[in-house]
Amino acid sequence: MRTLEDLGDISGKRVIVRVDFNVPLDGATITDDARIRAALPTLQELRGAGARLVLLSHLGRPKGGPDPKFSLRPVAERLQDLLGEPVVLMESLDSEPPDADVVLLENVRFLEGETNNDAELARRYAALGDVYVNDAFGSAHRAHASTEAIAHELPSAAGRLLEREVRTLTGILEDPQRPLVAIVGGAKVTDKIGVLDAFLSRADTILIGGAMCFPFFKAQGHEVGASLCEQEGIEPARRVLEQADGNQLRLPTDLRLGREFAADTETKELHGVDVDDGWMGLDVGVASARSYAEVVAGAGTVFWNGPMGAFELEPFAAGTRTVAEAVAEAPGTTVVGGGDSAAALAKFGLVDRVDHVSTGGGASLELIEGKPLPGVEALS
Ligand code: 3PG
Ligand code: MG
Repeated sequence: MRTLEDLGDISGKRVIVRVDFNVPLDGATITDDARIRAALPTLQELRGAGARLVLLSHLGRPKGGPDPKFSLRPVAERLQDLLGEPVVLMESLDSEPPDADVVLLENVRFLEGETNNDAELARRYAALGDVYVNDAFGSAHRAHASTEAIAHELPSAAGRLLEREVRTLTGILEDPQRPLVAIVGGAKVTDKIGVLDAFLSRADTILIGGAMCFPFFKAQGHEVGASLCEQEGIEPARRVLEQADGNQLRLPTDLRLGREFAADTETKELHGVDVDDGWMGLDVGVASARSYAEVVAGAGTVFWNGPMGAFELEPFAAGTRTVAEAVAEAPGTTVVGGGDSAAALAKFGLVDRVDHVSTGGGASLELIEGKPLPGVEALS
């Protein structure tokens, strides 16, 4: 993978940087600017080397052309504050690029051809600059015009964020400090089966949490009551159980139950995992969370993806909080996949206590699964 060093002298050049500014919004208010801050080292380094910047990003999944709900204007304003210099929003590819040191093109997904990796659109992007840098790790699993096709049009390289993400995530697979502990949670087995397979052949211990426990329990013959239990996940869970060595795969041994998925529902502790009718498992139990925390404390490397329960509901947040705190305190190297586990860390105020929090959800999972990422492949 080519990096910024490979671009040579960029002083006075226009550098097109694909960033992932797909941030969560509440109306026009950015609720988490982590992805914008994560791009700053690359942007500052390029500015420091005398380059002018044209930034490309998507936001959300707009359908059929421009839609003000998905405008990057709030992002341009936040970036301007963080960079401390003017950021000019370029509203359309049809107009002349503004004469400014930092230009942000409006949402690339407003343009026909972006998501089908259109070469003609990539050439129109390429006309905006002299070289191309991809720092959008969160979008590296997409073969889109601004992440893939454009890399074939200009001298191109990875930015610092993309470089660090790829190095860190491949590093924990290829040469981890042992024991390597993977914590895998979330709702569905089928979303995580590739990751489970990758860790079955590499991890010393895999700790399972979240509603994806229930297909495992069902495969073992337990009752799941009204718990969310992905039917298509039962067979893959059975296969994972068969393939796991001895104590390699751990499931919860107790649960916290609710009557329904709500913060004000009736709750109870279950010592065991057979859930009665009329109840649903919404968090791992206290004993399970404590034993997972002990495994994490003894790990050389920890990879965590997916919450242990419905942490967005306070009565069911304890399992995820205990695991998050254990990851924060772990002496080993700690890496957290993006998406919900990053959101949980943010909620508990622990983001800064982890060695690496990935800015990619889908991208980090696909990298762990060993799938080639089109945005990365195009840079080598
Ligand atoms: C993400 O948030 O996962 C990335 O920005 C990619 O977005 P997408 O799933 O809409 O392609
Ligand atoms: Mg540590």
